[in-house]
Amino acid sequence: MDSLVTTDNYPSLLSPANNLYICIMNNRQPAYEEAVKEIRAMIEGEPDLIANLSNTVAVLKEKFNFWWIGFYLVKGDQLVLGPFQGPVACTRIGKGKGVCGSSWEQKQTILVANVHQFPGHIACSAASNSEIVVPVIKNNEVAMVLDVDSIDYDYFNETDKKYLEEIAVLMASLS
Ligand code: SME
Repeated sequence: MDSLVTTDNYPSLLSPANNLYICIMNNRQPAYEEAVKEIRAMIEGEPDLIANLSNTVAVLKEKFNFWWIGFYLVKGDQLVLGPFQGPVACTRIGKGKGVCGSSWEQKQTILVANVHQFPGHIACSAASNSEIVVPVIKNNEVAMVLDVDSIDYDYFNETDKKYLEEIAVLMASLS
């Protein structure tokens, strides 16, 4: 819920230095609007997929300071790590495995408020506590997934889903 900020769902509020940052992040809609505009402008006229995916995660990391954000690309029967920002991550994920493989299999966005309660969650980073995975669907097939992790529990909401899905549609238009 955008309006409810407590030390339960935002433990980092306990650090006074982070208060301003947390208040700004409580309504992520304006930053997403800007991010979508920037990403649209960036990819226009640039045909290289990896360059575009790389700059897309850079824009989102810079605006939201997500713990980890990146793409996994469908290659055969696996997801393979693509452009990302954040700590070193698992390189290959099978279909139906973890949150990413489940999003691929189900062809839908998966929001996980507490990754420790998600059966089969793949813990690339022990610091991650919540996660959202959005599939990028091209010609009715998942071509890649966009995975975002937070160190806060219950961090992602419908606003993240809406805009990350919009960004996924932009990514699907790339070669
Ligand atoms: N947690 C993911 C694996 C990828 S990392 O979070 C970067 C999953 O369960 O699929």
